[in-house]
Amino acid sequence: MQGLIKDLRRIVEPKRLLTELEDRMAYAYDGTFRTRVPDLVVRPVTTAEVSGVLRLANREGLPVVPRGGATSLSGGAVPLQGGIVLALTSMNRILSFNREDLLVMVEPGVVTAHLHRNVEGAGLFYPPDPQSLEASTLGGNIAENAGGPRGIKYGVTRDYILGLEVVLPDGEIIQVGGSTVKNVSGYDLTRLFTGSEGTLGVITRANLKLIPKPEARRRLLAVYDDLGAAGKTVTRIIDSGVIPSMLEIMDDTTIQVVESYGHFGLPVEAAAILILEVDGFAETVERQASIIADLCRSAGAIRLEVARNEKEGEDLLKARRAVSPAVLRIDPRKPTKISEDATVPRSKVPEMIVRLKEIARRHDVTMVVYGHAGDGFLHPNIITNQDDPEEMARAEAAIDEVFKLALELGGTLSGEHGIGYLKAPYLVNEFGPAGVKAMRAIKEALDPKGIMNPGKIFDQGIGKMRAPGRG
Ligand code: LAC
Ligand code: ZN
Repeated sequence: MQGLIKDLRRIVEPKRLLTELEDRMAYAYDGTFRTRVPDLVVRPVTTAEVSGVLRLANREGLPVVPRGGATSLSGGAVPLQGGIVLALTSMNRILSFNREDLLVMVEPGVVTAHLHRNVEGAGLFYPPDPQSLEASTLGGNIAENAGGPRGIKYGVTRDYILGLEVVLPDGEIIQVGGSTVKNVSGYDLTRLFTGSEGTLGVITRANLKLIPKPEARRRLLAVYDDLGAAGKTVTRIIDSGVIPSMLEIMDDTTIQVVESYGHFGLPVEAAAILILEVDGFAETVERQASIIADLCRSAGAIRLEVARNEKEGEDLLKARRAVSPAVLRIDPRKPTKISEDATVPRSKVPEMIVRLKEIARRHDVTMVVYGHAGDGFLHPNIITNQDDPEEMARAEAAIDEVFKLALELGGTLSGEHGIGYLKAPYLVNEFGPAGVKAMRAIKEALDPKGIMNPGKIFDQGIGKMRAPGRG
């Protein structure tokens, strides 16, 4: 290790290499519940430094885990096997902003909301909006192919990535994609690295596509005394010809915990709410809002509120963004949150809702259900206690069933959080042994020594939820 530290000091300034335990401890975790303190933390500022670190790590066969805001909900940023954490938050410049081409070039450590504010100030729009946007970074968003509420109308991170600069595990620097909207040269490596969860290389630069900022928007709240009716509304809206820019659902427990957390004025007596948004030119927004309001009413909403101004609209969004922190407060004896993102074809949302509730009852677990219903997304969150093996066993049994259900309904294990370590043992259920083998072949070709973010995506045979290392 001493030799390695000496070599690393030749690559980065001394203050960018953290060797003391109390400094390294801050890099042991992400938004999941396993932790492992890395052996070293490097905070590079240039692509050349990233390349130098990878070259060394590859020589030594040492794990490297890239990390941005570390808000991952599947475990992307936890250095499960120790090694080097490459903290990319100091590479945080917006490098160029090209209005004529609707392009912006960023370093990976730019915080997502910071980019939003910058481009929106110029009348442009970068739609991907993970709920973690005030803390998560674009590099992490790209590595996890993050989604968010606006996905229903605007798509997800991958839809805005035109090109990337990537440092491969051996230190080689490559450019994939480019600066054009259309590009069909060779294999689409941009899509391969987007969502690769730090297992193939390190993203050091990204060319992002922008669109014009919608002129107006309107948010609505639909209140239900029956969760099923809320689910059916979703199907009706999808079928209506109006594409909302947000269509979010919260069940009763979610509403109650969010309200006691932030006092947003949500209807705590409701069985479910939908938070909806429409956007576009001012004239069309009114018309879309009125079509959606009628649909909600006819599908069984007992009350409908249209935000009268920007503040009321913002409050609805704040309530939605508060879900993740709020659900952790449900029960002081249950400090562990397992946030899933099993996703189904949209028409299956009503059935998914009913069957999730049934799974929670049968396994006697605390589960809240909320999510981007318009995208077929429900975030069943199980609130449990990782130090109670009996509780964890029930949580694990429930999660097994959630995944089985999503796949049975024609869905996927992960709509936006990635596989990480939490879902790695289940990957084979979605793609079969041959599908996983094809993915592994790509991994082995690009990272033959297996140094990049080991323990993620691919099952290591350690068992479900009990990922290696805690300390
Ligand atoms: C959300 C995160 C959990 O939608 O994806 O709140
Ligand atoms: Zn989400």
